Amino acid sequence: MSARELFSFRNPHTRTAVGVTVFVFLLSALTGFILLPYAQPQLKFTGIWDAICSAAGLPSGNATTEAPPAGAPGSKVVLTSATLAHPSQQSIGRGATLAQRCAICHGPTGISRADSPNLAGQYAAVIYKELSDFRSGARVNAVMTPFALDLTDQEIVDLAAYYAYLPRLPAFHPEPPRAPGTIVVYGAPTRGIAPCGSCHGSLDNKTGSPWLEGQSAVYLKAQLEAFASGQRRNDISAQMRNIARAMTPAEIEEAAAYYASQPAQIVKAVQ
Ligand code: HEC
Ligand code: HEC
Repeated sequence: MSARELFSFRNPHTRTAVGVTVFVFLLSALTGFILLPYAQPQLKFTGIWDAICSAAGLPSGNATTEAPPAGAPGSKVVLTSATLAHPSQQSIGRGATLAQRCAICHGPTGISRADSPNLAGQYAAVIYKELSDFRSGARVNAVMTPFALDLTDQEIVDLAAYYAYLPRLPAFHPEPPRAPGTIVVYGAPTRGIAPCGSCHGSLDNKTGSPWLEGQSAVYLKAQLEAFASGQRRNDISAQMRNIARAMTPAEIEEAAAYYASQPAQIVKAVQ
């Protein structure tokens, strides 16, 4: 048999070999790109193309989560590192007066006795942004929203100046310190999660990232879950939603417990 006949489709062996190869190729593509992705119960796909993209490792916006409600407002706040950098004593004083109405939940010294977030020593840019977002409806909470709705721009600036000026005192119910877990220290690079401290403080503070140490575990967990479900959606460029969505429930639990157990370091002296 000459080489020419061997590679000709007239040769039945060649036809069988090519046929089997094509069949195996199609079968493995079908299994790998369509059947296996659909076999994972935690993934939801909008169509076959979505499943193929997910199997190929391409980021897919809607593979794992429901789309956010149409028309829900995002955050309109623009932050720079100079936002609220040099508050006047008058501004802090006016903030102190206004803050009396916040004390019932956030504590008279800005440290909550329940599970409302501590505000004392929080970055001014964070207080400013969160209050603006509650006022505009970009962040919604049935308990907190009513207290932000009637604030003026100046009042928000004054409250931010006052709470940022207060020293970070220990939490009202301090918990014994825990070691940070893998998710906090290393993040999860394969899932696009940077170490928490690269934005939240211990490594670097990115403007607008809140101080988390000493917040209650209940509050931290609720926020992470709200970001994951898209119920809280005021984070600029969805940076926290993307992170929380990629975290497992155990990692959320671990990160919340770790930050709650950290002493809120006293970094400022009262002037
Ligand atoms: C009735 C209780 C209550 C009162 C009064 C209240 N808050 Fe809140 N506040 C909350 C709760 C609860 C949250 C957390 C909301 C959530 O889970 O999204 C919150 C959240 C906040 C946050 C966001 C903190 C963060 O780390 O993201 C800021 C800032 C804030 N409140 C400021 C104020 C100010 C200023 C006042 C007074 C004008 C005030 N609050 C009055 C209950 C209250
Ligand atoms: C790329 C920067 C970045 C990284 C990394 C990051 N965060 Fe955040 N996080 C933010 C920003 C910005 C906000 C504030 C969102 C807003 O309201 O505008 C935030 C908000 C939060 C809040 C809500 C706090 C509050 O008081 O409102 C929690 C809880 C949180 N992050 C936990 C984490 C944990 C845990 C990790 C690590 C697994 C993490 N974050 C990693 C940027 C980051």
